[in-house]
Amino acid sequence: MTWQLRTATEADLDAIMAIETRVFPDDAWSAATMRAELRDGNGVYLVASPVDDPARVDAYGGVRAPRRQPQADIQTIAVVEDARRHGLGRVLMLRMLDIARERGAEELFLEVRADNPGAQSLYRSLGFEQIAVRPRYYNGTVDALIMRLTIPEPTAALA
Ligand SMILES: CC(C)(COP(=O)(O)OP(=O)(O)OC[C@H]1O[C@@H](n2cnc3c(N)ncnc32)[C@H](O)[C@@H]1OP(=O)(O)O)[C@@H](O)C(=O)NCCC(=O)NCCS
Repeated sequence: MTWQLRTATEADLDAIMAIETRVFPDDAWSAATMRAELRDGNGVYLVASPVDDPARVDAYGGVRAPRRQPQADIQTIAVVEDARRHGLGRVLMLRMLDIARERGAEELFLEVRADNPGAQSLYRSLGFEQIAVRPRYYNGTVDALIMRLTIPEPTAALA
């Protein structure tokens, strides 16, 4: 299957929340939080839709990158189960990295659950390195790993 990315708007809120509640059953964001994220001009949210079914949303990701600030954050990323391991997560991450760079960021940070090796593997493959651990950050039980990437020059990213 082939997907296309576009910038999300508030009109995508329901589709995003349908994935959010399914993919993060224990710690989903509320619709109000997600709406605020979609409205926030300091960030950009992307959604991925199948080329042959543009009304459907199969994945989303959000990056917070206030303009001319050296540091940006991956806020979230999720791909529906049926669409995983087709490169969608990587493409979303690379596009969010581009957006952070275009807005002037030099470093990109994220938090990931210690019990989520799949996501960690994706981030490491993009060059993210673990810089800290927040003990029992999720629901008072699961550690958060803080990861950082020094954003490469565009030519290096395309190599
Ligand atoms: C993490 C997630 C976004 C990855 O999305 P995806 O579209 O499946 O990722 P990709 O297909 O682009 O994977 C790229 C590479 O990352 C690594 N990777 C991704 N998922 C993996 C997994 N479950 N186990 C091991 N490696 C994995 C692999 O190296 C993979 O390359 P390969 O398929 O050629 O081996 C997706 O699994 C997801 O939505 N998970 C639930 C939500 C979540 O955990 N979000 C992250 C919160 S921090």
